[in-house]
Amino acid sequence: PPRAHPDIDEILVSRDEIAAKIAELAARVDADYAGREILLVGVLKGAVMVMADLSRALSVPITMEFMAVSSYGSTTSSSGVVRILKDLDRSIEGQDVLVVEDIIDSGLTLSWLLRNLRSRGPASLEVLALFRKPEAITVDVDVRYVGFDIPSAFVVGYGLDYAEHYRTLPFVGTLTPEAIARRA
Ligand code: PRP
Ligand code: MN
Ligand code: MG
Repeated sequence: PPRAHPDIDEILVSRDEIAAKIAELAARVDADYAGREILLVGVLKGAVMVMADLSRALSVPITMEFMAVSSYGSTTSSSGVVRILKDLDRSIEGQDVLVVEDIIDSGLTLSWLLRNLRSRGPASLEVLALFRKPEAITVDVDVRYVGFDIPSAFVVGYGLDYAEHYRTLPFVGTLTPEAIARRA
């Protein structure tokens, strides 16, 4: 078949599969939070697509906040040491917080973030991640909502980047070796 994008080797999760999964996750979240309001906390930048689509698929009232974090050191593997680039704009004390992530790789970012957010006294704190790489997880993180478990290949699209590119692809797929080499 023709390539979906010249730099994409293989599509792992299609646009339609993502849309169906977001609808399914939104229905679960709606049921679990019925009668309550959720504060969605999106983790910039990867979570922007999930945040945009999930928030509009939910029926329960929501408000949005964003955090930007960065791990020190290597850009290709998380060190577990995280620094806040942009903090929340307001208190989350007493609120039902749902952290929205695109992907859990090693789990280190999320593990640190959950500890940080828990210390701010939310009424509840849960996580929704569209993708998870079970083989890559090094720390135990409790994730209430997971979209897809995927192999630990390097993937891009739907928020996921390689050197800040490819976030807007509507699907998730692997890069060709040429595309990887070009920006390495
Ligand atoms: C990616 C991804 C997750 C995190 C997962 O973000 O969006 O936030 O890494 O990795 P971990 O489970 O190994 O900690 P990244 O740091 O690349 O920033 P970005 O969202 O701006 O792309
Ligand atoms: Mn991220
Ligand atoms: Mg990234």
